[in-house]
Amino acid sequence: MAKVLVLNGPNLGRLGSREPEIYGTLDYEGLVAAVSVQAATQGIEAQVRQTDSESELIGWLHEAVDSNSNVVLNPAAFTHYSYALRDAAALVTKAGLKLIEVHISNPHAREEFRHKSVISAVASGVIAGFGVGSYLLALKSLS
Ligand code: DQA
Repeated sequence: MAKVLVLNGPNLGRLGSREPEIYGTLDYEGLVAAVSVQAATQGIEAQVRQTDSESELIGWLHEAVDSNSNVVLNPAAFTHYSYALRDAAALVTKAGLKLIEVHISNPHAREEFRHKSVISAVASGVIAGFGVGSYLLALKSLS
C-alpha cells in the first residue's frame, strides 16, 4: 500500500480557535479525520502528525526518505524562512518521492512576508487557499 506522511508545522495544532476568520473553524482533530477518510478512500496508508519543533519536522522528512513515503507538508511559518527544512524537503524529492506543499490559507493574499516560500522550489507541487481541501487535493494528486 502506498504510504504518505501528512506533516504539519507550528501552531497548526491550534486550528479551530486560531484566527478562524483565516484558517476556518475545523479543529486539528477534524483535519486529521478528513485527511484519514480521504486517504482510506484512495487506498493510501496515511499518518497525520503535527509539531511545533523544526527539529522534529526535519526528522520526519528524513523518516519519509528512509520509509519510501510521499509527503504532504504544511510547513506553517517555517515556509517563509527555514532553509534547514527546505534542505530536508529537497532530500525527499531528490529521492524520487513526492512532496506536496500545502497551505490552508492563500499566503499570497496576506502579509508580504508570507509571499515568499523557501520550500516551493524543492516541492513537487504547491496547493494553497482551499482550507482543509488543500490537503485533500494534495492526496488526490498522489493517486
Ligand atoms: C499556513 C500559512 C503560513 O503563512 C502560516 O504561518 C501558517 C499556516 C497556512 O496553512 O495557511 O501557520 O501555512
